[in-house]
Amino acid sequence: MDKKTILCIGAGYVGGPTMAMIAAKCPDYKVTVADINAQRIAGWNSDRLPIYEPGLTQLVEKSRGKNLFFTTEVEKGIKESHIIFVSVNTPTKTFGSGAGKAADLQFWEKSARLIAEQSEEDKIVVEKSTLPVRAAEAIHRILQSNTKGLKFSVLSNPEFLAEGTAVADLENPDRVLIGSMISPEGHEALEELVDIYAHWVPRERIITTNVWSSEMSKLVSNAMLAQRISSINSISALCEKTGADIAEVSHAVGLDKRVGSRFLRAGVGFGGSCFKKDILNLVYLCETFNLHEVADYWEQVVLMNEYQERRFAERIVKNMFNTISGKRIAVFGFAFKADTGDTRESPAIYISRLLLNERADLAIYDPKALDNAKIDLGDVTAGIEYCSDPYEAVRGAHAIALITDWKEFAEYDYDRIFSLMEKPAFIFDGRNVLDHDRLFKTGFNVFPLGKAEMTHFE
Ligand code: UDX
Ligand code: ADP
Repeated sequence: MDKKTILCIGAGYVGGPTMAMIAAKCPDYKVTVADINAQRIAGWNSDRLPIYEPGLTQLVEKSRGKNLFFTTEVEKGIKESHIIFVSVNTPTKTFGSGAGKAADLQFWEKSARLIAEQSEEDKIVVEKSTLPVRAAEAIHRILQSNTKGLKFSVLSNPEFLAEGTAVADLENPDRVLIGSMISPEGHEALEELVDIYAHWVPRERIITTNVWSSEMSKLVSNAMLAQRISSINSISALCEKTGADIAEVSHAVGLDKRVGSRFLRAGVGFGGSCFKKDILNLVYLCETFNLHEVADYWEQVVLMNEYQERRFAERIVKNMFNTISGKRIAVFGFAFKADTGDTRESPAIYISRLLLNERADLAIYDPKALDNAKIDLGDVTAGIEYCSDPYEAVRGAHAIALITDWKEFAEYDYDRIFSLMEKPAFIFDGRNVLDHDRLFKTGFNVFPLGKAEMTHFE
């Protein structure tokens, strides 16, 4: 078999963009992406990709049909490829032991069994989805239990791309991390994967470790990033009470090179498919080893995030005269961050539900995430209007709740918006992306996050 054949099982936010980049940078490899979801595959084969990511369409178009293929034929893909990335979903378990914390590995295990069953030659299997520490070992056991005497090498190659900047992150990564088993086969497999990335990533940025360090590093990277956000968000609550300004505080603190300026933006809380899930994974791992203090320490990062989401909704209710019942509230943004249509773990979900509980009427607008919002709130039968135009959403609204940091929100005509709204008109800027002084002058009562409110009341 041609060794330069790659299959990726799972055509999601990670598998799709990663394989498109490998195909574009490695024209000497044939890259196939397989998924059981036929609709998703049809999307990847069309002009409207199933996920929104700046620059992704051009990247896919460069190689699709040449050395990049999207298919539902997983079995055939396994037979025909030497290197198999597995990038299926690993959500938090909702049942049984470890429910609410441990990763649900059923999709992964199914893939591993299928690989063992369909393979006719030795293969390299690469963990791309985030897996708990020591998962590679379990996967290796499943693969080696094949009765054909085939040899499989398992590598861990965690993905560090962030949604919204996936193409840039893949093109120019801070580092590529590859973990391998300590054996001659493991080493050989490692070299093959290093060769792929070395097509465009400088060698010194490709780091190699043992599999467990690699798996652990992914969890810890995300836990550390999320911890910074929870830390600054906790201080935003204190700023609102004291008159300190969170933007000034994070600027001053971030200029200390030892701290650094990134990931210190206070907001409504972090979302996305990774942070919460990975921290809970870490927490579960610590509990398994009876490290309860360590588990509690990391779990607090998640609890602080829930507090921040709740605090935002409660601030809205409290300042709108303690009732939002029957009041229209325009929700600006539903995605978990700007430049993506993804709403997994988006603070917007929890905040919307809290506002709906108070019987508000929500008018939700998002440039890319409305379809996902409709699914997330699919069980809600009344009290929501989904708007494809922000000016429609604010018509007759008492307040705007800004949840996502979409750039376009700062570019709207707020004089016009003010004229369309009920008075007194409120703006709760959960991301501090608007020009607060200007809004105040227009007549809005402005509630930035982590800084003093600006109201026209006596
Ligand atoms: C993250 C990691 O960055 C990435 O390396 C990993 O592979 C997957 O998880 P992602 O979830 O796509 O990526 O988005 P990220 O940019 O990290 O943002 C996560 C959340 O934190 C978003 O909701 C964002 O709005 C929020 N955030 C980020 C803040 O609230 N403040 C900040 O300063 C930065
Ligand atoms: P991520 O953000 O990690 O990429 P996604 O949920 O976007 O996660 O993507 C995971 C993809 O894996 C989904 O498109 C899902 O259909 C696919 N998938 C899950 N199980 C299997 C399987 N056994 N075979 C093929 N694809 C699978």
